[in-house]
Amino acid sequence: MSEERKLKLGFLGVGAIAQLAHLPAAVKAENVDLVAVCDASEEMAREIAHIYGAREWFTDHERFLAEADIEAALIPVPDPFHAPLTIAALEAGKHVLVEKPLALDVPEAEAMCEAAEHAGRQLQIATMKRWDPGLQYAQTFTAHEMGQRLTVSGWYCDTRYHGAYVSTHWPIRRFAEGRKRPEPGPPAHPLRWIILGHGVHLIDTLCFFGGRIAAVTAAVSSKYGSHGICGTLEYEDGATGTFQLTCTVTMDWCEGLLVHGERGSIEAKIGFPYWKAGSEVRVFDAAHEEYRTPVTPDSDPYERQLEGFAAAILGGYDVSPSGQDGLHDQRVLEAIETAVRGGGRVDVA
Ligand SMILES: NC(=O)c1ccc[n+]([C@@H]2O[C@H](COP(=O)([O-])OP(=O)(O)OC[C@H]3O[C@@H](n4cnc5c(N)ncnc54)[C@H](O)[C@@H]3O)[C@@H](O)[C@H]2O)c1
Repeated sequence: MSEERKLKLGFLGVGAIAQLAHLPAAVKAENVDLVAVCDASEEMAREIAHIYGAREWFTDHERFLAEADIEAALIPVPDPFHAPLTIAALEAGKHVLVEKPLALDVPEAEAMCEAAEHAGRQLQIATMKRWDPGLQYAQTFTAHEMGQRLTVSGWYCDTRYHGAYVSTHWPIRRFAEGRKRPEPGPPAHPLRWIILGHGVHLIDTLCFFGGRIAAVTAAVSSKYGSHGICGTLEYEDGATGTFQLTCTVTMDWCEGLLVHGERGSIEAKIGFPYWKAGSEVRVFDAAHEEYRTPVTPDSDPYERQLEGFAAAILGGYDVSPSGQDGLHDQRVLEAIETAVRGGGRVDVA
């Protein structure tokens, strides 16, 4: 019996999210062969290669891209490095799955999409909620059975217990000297960091259900070190929606979605990401006057995302969500930032 071909994958960066999510996903994914890892920290590159069974390890990304026997690179590095490393990988002929947000700003994101186009390689953004099986079930109903969309709204509220959850779910502890961090460190503008780093998940999920967004309004309140951003959304198809992005809330993780349409509605409760559980969704199907809820045992969105990326490349079809989806997210996030700072209604350029 011939074995199915697997995608030869390398990791560029093996820090926190690689260890929490992507490395376990790569080991589990049936159509992925984890060939090589690269990290600026030699100790981390060597140890992580050993732990996860990668045959090659590197500390220099140029050597990694030139010499590793890989077809694709997963790039979970800090945000300021997304654009330069993604473009370098695409120019070296690799397909790329890069962490969110796609870039720091729209021109960088455009340059990444252009590099993918020019290289004839695939670029996927790792907004993994599109691979959550509960949300996929609900989105399929929205796209094929719900008819016209009236409102598509969502909320994403990070919990003050985020750090405790991370510690609880970490498979191993493997940090060492020599990690490459951006300068300056944590962003000087917390609002920008919240909008880019967290808001991208919210906006990408809303676009998954509602399609492209044409305009936004937004207002912010900042108290006791927390920030709440609330606003409205106008979708290109004429639907409207509201959003709330809060970091952090004095309660558990709180994320969800509410969609109303011509022939049904959707309610979704989205869990803390590292639980890797499918969202709890309830679809109201007016055609049958019934509520439906799927069971989603194969639920790790990071694993499903990677399997989807590999399947698209091996099968010769387009990845999802694509760099273009990430570019649209970036434009919406920039519009929200403009709305927060200046007020008023901002068109998504
Ligand atoms: N999708 C999610 O659920 C999720 C969750 C958390 C973070 N993220 C995103 O993941 C990305 C990475 O975040 P993190 O917290 O894992 O970062 P991190 O700093 O813990 O890890 C990044 C690693 O990349 C390495 N690196 C950076 N530049 C390099 C280079 N040129 N060559 C070799 N190695 C290099 C560093 O040494 C470090 O070990 C960020 O963009 C973040 O927004 C996504």
